Amino acid sequence: MSLQLERFAFLGGGHMAQALIKGLVLGGVQPQQIHVLDRNADKCALFRSEYSVGATHDLKTVLNGATTLIIVVRPNDVKPLLMDIAQLEGPSRRIISCASGLTCEQLQAWLNPQQHTIIRAMPNLPASVQSGITALYADDDVLDQDRVIAENLMRSVGSVFWINIEDQLHEITGVSGSGPGYVFRLMDAMTQAAVKLGVPEAQARMLVVSTFLGSAHLALAHAEPLSELCQAVCVKGGTTERGIDVFNRHDVDGLFDAVLKAVVDRSRELH
Ligand SMILES: NC(=O)c1ccc[n+]([C@@H]2O[C@H](COP(=O)([O-])OP(=O)(O)OC[C@H]3O[C@@H](n4cnc5c(N)ncnc54)[C@H](OP(=O)(O)O)[C@@H]3O)[C@@H](O)[C@H]2O)c1
Repeated sequence: MSLQLERFAFLGGGHMAQALIKGLVLGGVQPQQIHVLDRNADKCALFRSEYSVGATHDLKTVLNGATTLIIVVRPNDVKPLLMDIAQLEGPSRRIISCASGLTCEQLQAWLNPQQHTIIRAMPNLPASVQSGITALYADDDVLDQDRVIAENLMRSVGSVFWINIEDQLHEITGVSGSGPGYVFRLMDAMTQAAVKLGVPEAQARMLVVSTFLGSAHLALAHAEPLSELCQAVCVKGGTTERGIDVFNRHDVDGLFDAVLKAVVDRSRELH
């Protein structure tokens, strides 16, 4: 099913809405098909000027004619928003929720008594440059035509895969949903370390970003375990080996166990 017949209402005009809208427009969706709800006048103005899409704080206006609602407010803001939608007593809708931690059952309960089609998505921020990865989940009773719209929407901003067990979205949040945050934190630390060694900041940033990008391309191109790719850089008795020794002495595996556990625990708390 084509996205050209859809009218999208983005409920929330923050980072994820911007990432998805940027990607969608680049992918050929017309700005007139998109309407954004945000309570901040400055953010609405930005959407109108930067992406030529409709943007307002008025829920009724945004819902009018919308075929697909995309929930992109923070998890704590979802319940009051959905209860407002329920109050308006509109038609049954296709709803794609990007909110971490909140289950289809919970979302439907807040929309009660109107039954809606709910699909959960866990995208990530590189969607804004069409390099995102999104996990999708829907209960068994969701029709193929609704799944196809969700899949095409997210495919326009990157790769997509479906999961069959809703609970796995917590772990996926910990890996790819929050993952860009870890990568930027690591890139920043590596850049700052280079600057301390005397590398000019702009050059350090370019070296670090290009190294992450090139390494990711290499990892995508090769099926062997990532540990083997690491070994390929570590010439025996050479320079890289010394650096990797420092990682190991500081228990980098344990660090990532702790990071992912903290994020997954938080995702479960939001439930
Ligand atoms: N950012 C990511 O990388 C990422 C990745 C995966 C999933 N997600 C999910 O995507 C969702 C959005 O994240 P985000 O980072 O885009 O959040 P965000 O930048 O905080 O954007 C949310 C926006 O919605 C506005 N808002 C909240 N409730 C509203 C209401 N009732 N009416 C109108 N506007 C309202 C907020 O206004 P105020 O600021 O005034 O409250 C804010 O401008 C979250 O549920 C998150 O779990 C995000």
